[in-house]
Amino acid sequence: MITKIKFGEPVNTGAVVLEVSVSQKIDFGNVVSTWPFRWDFQLSEEDKVFGLGESMRGINKRGFKYTSWCSDEPHQDESKPSLYGAHNFIIVFGKQTFGMFFETPSRIDFDIGFTKADLFSVETQDIGVNLYTITAEKDGQTPLLSIVQQFRTIIGQSYIPPFWAFGFQQSRWGYKNQQDISEVVQNYKKMNFPIDSVCMDIDYMEEYEDFTVDKEKFPDLSQFAAELKKDGIRLIPIIDAGVKVKEGYSVYDEGIKNEYFCKKEDGKTPYAAGVWPGRSHFADFFRPEVRKWFGLKYKVLTDCGIEGFWNDMNEPAMFYSDESLSQAHEKMKNTDVTNLDIISFFQFSALGESTKNSMEDYKRFYHSVPADPKNPESDRKIYRHDKVHNMFGGLMTQAAAEGLDEIAPEKRMLLYSRASTIGAHRYGGIWTGDVNSWWAHLEQHIKVLPGLNMCGFLYTGSDIGGFGYDTSRDLLLRWTEFSVFTPLMRNHSSAGTRLQEYYRYENPEDFKSVLDLRYALIPYLYSEYVKCAVKNQMMFKPLGFEYPSDKMAMETEDQLFLGNEIMLAPVYKQNATGRYVYLPENMTKVIWQNSTFKQERMKKGIHYVQMPLNSVVFFVRDKKMIPLCKPASSTNEIKYDDFEFVGDGKEYLLYRDDGFTKDIQLEKGCVVVKK
Ligand code: GLC
Repeated sequence: MITKIKFGEPVNTGAVVLEVSVSQKIDFGNVVSTWPFRWDFQLSEEDKVFGLGESMRGINKRGFKYTSWCSDEPHQDESKPSLYGAHNFIIVFGKQTFGMFFETPSRIDFDIGFTKADLFSVETQDIGVNLYTITAEKDGQTPLLSIVQQFRTIIGQSYIPPFWAFGFQQSRWGYKNQQDISEVVQNYKKMNFPIDSVCMDIDYMEEYEDFTVDKEKFPDLSQFAAELKKDGIRLIPIIDAGVKVKEGYSVYDEGIKNEYFCKKEDGKTPYAAGVWPGRSHFADFFRPEVRKWFGLKYKVLTDCGIEGFWNDMNEPAMFYSDESLSQAHEKMKNTDVTNLDIISFFQFSALGESTKNSMEDYKRFYHSVPADPKNPESDRKIYRHDKVHNMFGGLMTQAAAEGLDEIAPEKRMLLYSRASTIGAHRYGGIWTGDVNSWWAHLEQHIKVLPGLNMCGFLYTGSDIGGFGYDTSRDLLLRWTEFSVFTPLMRNHSSAGTRLQEYYRYENPEDFKSVLDLRYALIPYLYSEYVKCAVKNQMMFKPLGFEYPSDKMAMETEDQLFLGNEIMLAPVYKQNATGRYVYLPENMTKVIWQNSTFKQERMKKGIHYVQMPLNSVVFFVRDKKMIPLCKPASSTNEIKYDDFEFVGDGKEYLLYRDDGFTKDIQLEKGCVVVKK
C-alpha cells in the first residue's frame, strides 16, 4: 500500500508517474517540523535501513549520515555524504517495515543513527516535500521485495537499452583521434577479444564544444562509424552539460538568441561558469522547449551513424564562476605572501579549490520550472538553482532521451549519464562516475548495485579497473570478473593513468577468457534485465531481500543475487585466491576458466571456495538453470541456437527480441528453454 502526504508547496519532480492516494497522517515516525521539514524515527536495535541509491558505505546504511546532493565527487571515500546521484528512497526493515520516498529536488540530509545510534532523522531545506510511505502487500514476495516493486511501479518502468549495449565497451579519456581508436579496435580484434563499442571522450570535439566534431582528428566520422560497424563496433560519444561561450559557435548563438540558457538573478544575464571549454552557459533543462532544442542537437551525431551517448558533468560540475574566480583572485592579491601563519596558510591553500562546485555558485542562477512537468503550458515558477539542483542532471538525460526518440522513433538508443535523480531511470542508465583504481572501490561497486536497482537504475556499471590512479593487473582482472555481470560493462580510465586496455597486460588470454564469459552470458543477462525492467523488480538483490529471516543472509553484504538464478560472491581483495561464501540454499558452483566451465553441486552453508585469479566463480541457485551461449566476437554474432546449460534446474524462461524494438512485450518474447 502507498500513501502520500504533502508538506509545504513541493515541486513536482516528475519522479512519480501514477496517482497515489493522499493521506492525512503519517504511520511511521514523527514529523518534528514542517518548515523546514524534519522527520524522526526511533530505530529499534534490530532495524536495518536500505536504499539511498548511489551512496557510499554498506548495503545497510545504518550508522552514518548522507546528503542527497548531486556532486562532482572524484574523491569517493567513506567520509563522503554525497555522490553523483540523489536517490531519496529508503526502506526501514525490522520491528516495523516500510519504505519512504522523500520527493524534493533540493538538498536533503539523512542521519541514520549517526548522531544518536537509535535515531533516524531526515531534514530538507526550506522547500516543500511529498512524502510517500509504502508498506508490503501480501503478494507472495518478501516484504522488502514487495515494497521495492510497489515503489518502482509508481516511478515508472526503467530504461531498456538496445541489445548491443550489453557488449563490452572500451573507453579512455585520452583517445585523441581516429587513429587512436582504430588502433585499440585492431588490437582487440587481432587477439580475438570480443568487443562492441568504443567511447569517445571530450577530445573528439572542437575545443570541447558540444555537438561538434574536430575534422582534423575525425575527418569523416560517418565513414569511420560505418567502417567500424561492419566489424560489429559502435562509437559512443560524450556530451557535456556546459555549452562554450563563443560567438559564431551555433549552439551558443542559438541558445543566446532564444534565451535558452540559465539566467542570473536579474532574469537577463546568462550565467557563466568554467568547465572543460572554459566559460560556459547551461541550458535550462527544466523548460520543455529547451529540452527539445538540446535533445534534437544529438542529430548532428546520429546523422553520422552514432547510436549511443554518455552525458557528463551534469550535476552540473563547475570549476568556477565569473564571480567566484574574481573573488578568489582578489583574496589572493590581498594575501601577504611574505609570511603565512597557520590560519592564513590554510586559507591561502584552500583558495584554488574554493571556486569548485561551490554552494555560492549554485545560488547564482535560476530556472523556470513548469508546475506540471508533463504539461509545458502549465504555470512556470522561477527557482534558484540550489532549490532544484538534484533534478538538473536527470533533466539533461530526459532532454537527450526525448530528442533521440524524435530523431529515431523506430529504435532504442544507448544513453547513460553521470548525475541522476529518481525519474531519470526511465530515460537512461548511469555509470558510477570517477572511481579510483582501488580495491575498496571494487567492493563499493558490489554494495551500490542493490540501492541503485531499488531506485530504478538497472543499466549501470562502474569504470572497470578504476578511473583515477594506476591500476594493477590483478585489480583490473578481478574488477572485470565482477563486471561481466553488470549490464553496463565498460573499461574506462583517466588521462595520465596507466593504460588500461586488456591487451597491454601479461597473459592477455586470462582477460579474453573473462570477456568470453560475458558474451556467453549475454542472452541470460538481457533476458533478466528486460524481465526486471518490465516487472519493476531488482536485478541485483542482497541475500537478505530473499531470505529476511536468515540472519547470516541479512548480514552478508559482499554477495548478491543476480536475477532469479545466479548468486555472485566476487573476490575484491588483493592476493586472495579464494574466499568464504555463504550459501543460503543448495547451489551449483560454476567455475569458468580458459573460456570453458565446470560445475559442482554444493550444500547450503559456509564454504571456503577457491577462486584463482584467472577464473570467474559464480553460483546457480537450487533447482534453477541458466543458458550459456557460445562466446562471440560481438553481440551481432551471438547465436541463440546452441546453448549449454548450467545448474540443476530443468528449464529457464528466456526473453528475447530483435534488440531494438521499443514496444516490449514479455509474453511475446518469452520462451521456455529446456535441457
Ligand atoms: C569526467 C568524467 C570522466 C571523463 C572526464 C573527461 O571526469 O566522469 O568519465 O573521462 O570527465 O571527459
